[in-house]
Amino acid sequence: MNRNSLSKNDILKRIRSALKNDKSYKKGNVISTMCTYPDEFAQQLFSEFIARNIGDTNLFPGVVALEKEVISMLGKLLHNETAYGNIVTGGTEANFLALWAYRELSGKHTIIVPKTAHFSLYKSANILHLNIKTVRVTENRQVDIAEVQKAIDDDTFCIVGIAGTTELGVIDPIAELSELCIKHNLYLHIDAAFGGFVIPFMKDMNYDVADFDFVLPGVSSITIDPHKMGMCPIPAGGILFRNKELTKKIEWSVSYLSGGDTQQTTFVSSRSGASVIAVWGMLKHMGFEGYENLIRKCMDVTGYLINELDRIDDLCPILQPTMNIVGITSTKYNIVTIAEAMREKSWAISLFTKHLRIVLRPSVTKKVIDTFIHDIKEVLTCIQAKI
Ligand SMILES: Cc1ncc(COP(=O)(O)O)c(C=O)c1O
Repeated sequence: MNRNSLSKNDILKRIRSALKNDKSYKKGNVISTMCTYPDEFAQQLFSEFIARNIGDTNLFPGVVALEKEVISMLGKLLHNETAYGNIVTGGTEANFLALWAYRELSGKHTIIVPKTAHFSLYKSANILHLNIKTVRVTENRQVDIAEVQKAIDDDTFCIVGIAGTTELGVIDPIAELSELCIKHNLYLHIDAAFGGFVIPFMKDMNYDVADFDFVLPGVSSITIDPHKMGMCPIPAGGILFRNKELTKKIEWSVSYLSGGDTQQTTFVSSRSGASVIAVWGMLKHMGFEGYENLIRKCMDVTGYLINELDRIDDLCPILQPTMNIVGITSTKYNIVTIAEAMREKSWAISLFTKHLRIVLRPSVTKKVIDTFIHDIKEVLTCIQAKI
C-alpha cells in the first residue's frame, strides 16, 4: 500500500491498464462461459443498493422480504411455490448447502454423482469429508441408472442429478432418479445451475425436454443460478429446498447482530443484499415471457450453429444439443490443436477431453457464429497444410 493516497483518476487509469487484456462477457468472442453480461437494469439495481447486507437480517428486513419473494418466484418456476431457499454466491455454494444439509440430517457420508458432475460437488465432498461415488454415463452422456442403483449402499444419503451438464447441457433421467430416491429413502439434489433458467422456458415452447424439478416427488432440492442464464450480476446463485424442514440442521442462530436473534441457512454470513435485489428486479422486469424470448433466441442461434457445422466435413457436434450448449468435435483433427489455434485468434473457448464447448448465451449472435465458422475453417486449412 502507498503511504500517500493516489488521485481517483490515477487509480482508475491504473485499474484500466491492469485490466486491458481481460475479456468481456459482452463481446462476441467469449463463447466459453455460462455467465452472462448482466442486464443494464440489474446492474443499476445492484449498484444503487450495494450496501445492503442480507446477513444482518434485522438491519435490512426489506431485503429479507424481497428474498422470500424471489424464492417463491423461482419456486413457482420449478413447481413449488412454497420452496425454501436463499440467493447465495453461486452454484458452488448452492450445491455445498444441499450436501451439508443432508449429511447433517442423515448422519451418513456417501453421495452418488454422475461422471459429468461439476467440480463444485467434489470440492463440497472434500470439505464435508464425504465419500463420493462417481457413476458412469451412457453414450448420450446421461447418468447410467442401473449403475446408480448398484452404487447405493447403507452409507448413501444423497444422489445428485444434473439438469444441464457443464460439458454439454445434458439432462439426467431425473424422473428415474426420483423413483430410486423414494424407493431407497435418499435425498435427491438437482444441479440445475445452468438449466434452471433454460428448461422451464423450453418446455413452454414445446421442446422435448424431460421433467427435472419439484414436479417429481423425489426431488429434495435444486440449484438454479440467476448469474448464469438469469442475466443477473455475479454473485447470484440459488438454492431451493422442497421445504424449510430440510435445512433445520444447518440453521445457525446468531445473537449479537442488530435487533437480536437471527437465523441463517447459508454458508456465507455477510451476504449481498444487492444480489437479491438485482434478482428480484430482473425476475419482475423480464417476466416469464422475457426469459422465454431470450431462450428462444439462444435456441435459434444454437440451431444455426448446428446447421453451419453440418456443412464442414471434418467437424461435427459430439451430441445433438439438449439446450443452448454445443460440443464440437473433429473426426480428423486433434481437438486440442484446434482449440489452441482458435484461442490464438482470440476466441475464449472451453476445451473438454473430446470436444470444444460453446455456450450460446445472448451475446453469441448469428453474426458471431459466422465469424467463428470463418475462423475455424481457416484453422482447419492451416492444420491440414501442416500435415
Ligand atoms: C452444472 C453446474 N453446477 C455448478 C456450477 C458452479 O457454479 P458457480 O461457478 O456459480 O459456483 C457450474 C458452473 O459452471 C455448473 O455448470
